[in-house]
Amino acid sequence: MPSVVEKYNPNKASALSRKRDLQRGAKRGRSVAIKELTLHEVREDAVQFGLATELHYQLKAGKEASIFLASWKSHPIILKAYRFWHSTHTSKKKGFFAPGQMEALAAKEYDVLLACFKAGVPCPTPIGRVGNYITMRFIGDGHEAAPQLRDADLKNPEVVLDQILDDYLVMYRDAHYVHGDLSRYNILWWKERPWIIDVPQANKVTKWSDMRQISFLIRRDIKNVLSYFKKYDVHRDLDQIVEVFLSSYMPDNQKYFRERVSVLPRSEW
Ligand SMILES: Nc1ncnc2c1ncn2[C@@H]1O[C@H](COP(=O)(O)OP(=O)(O)O)[C@@H](O)[C@H]1O
Ligand SMILES: [Mg+2]
Repeated sequence: MPSVVEKYNPNKASALSRKRDLQRGAKRGRSVAIKELTLHEVREDAVQFGLATELHYQLKAGKEASIFLASWKSHPIILKAYRFWHSTHTSKKKGFFAPGQMEALAAKEYDVLLACFKAGVPCPTPIGRVGNYITMRFIGDGHEAAPQLRDADLKNPEVVLDQILDDYLVMYRDAHYVHGDLSRYNILWWKERPWIIDVPQANKVTKWSDMRQISFLIRRDIKNVLSYFKKYDVHRDLDQIVEVFLSSYMPDNQKYFRERVSVLPRSEW
């Protein structure tokens, strides 16, 4: 019988993934898969979990997740697999990151994508989430994935920058999320418009948020985006944009957050 503490341990792998890991030879009581998933294993999981009818190939291997092109019937979709192994979160000592934490990232990405999609942010529509896997709309055509913004050849960079700022404003003002890792890598260029992706580290802005931290993240995200546009000789006032964001949405009790004693140096607000 698992103890009550274990039962409610948020880092515990789900029953589904523990069953799978046991089938794959992990020892009972050790709820971690200590190896990288192979294409074959991901395919098996994706089909068994009802996430996809076919898994074609790996498109990208990022920091903590691998991106696969999959299909639902004949329709191309993306399957993002959070890895248990080889992640930047990997602890040098232990060599792995707990499966429960990977599942939590997948679950969070699903929720944030859904909230953004509902608010009207151009982002991949989430489709399903089981364990450390999430499926979403494929931004691309046939088997050709949309390029990241850094590889796109922009004809009207001014307009594109405005679109990105407008989209991010919708994410912040209407869905109440800050992205936290917005960059030339996490914006795709498709159908003549930017698409915001990769949101597992997003922060929800609520009346309990630390607004100094939130405003720091908004500033960092926008600064990242602006820095990319310098090569097109497009420049904007960072302070002013951050002000527009903060004044477009601020939880009631946070209006005077700047007057509170700050733990961050003023320059980082
Ligand atoms: N829905 C999608 N449609 C098309 N390409 C995608 C999609 N999601 C991710 N990609 C591609 O895979 C890369 C990595 O995905 P991302 O979600 O950013 O994960 P990571 O955390 O590894 O950076 C992206 O930069 C993009 O090129
Ligand atoms: Mg990314």
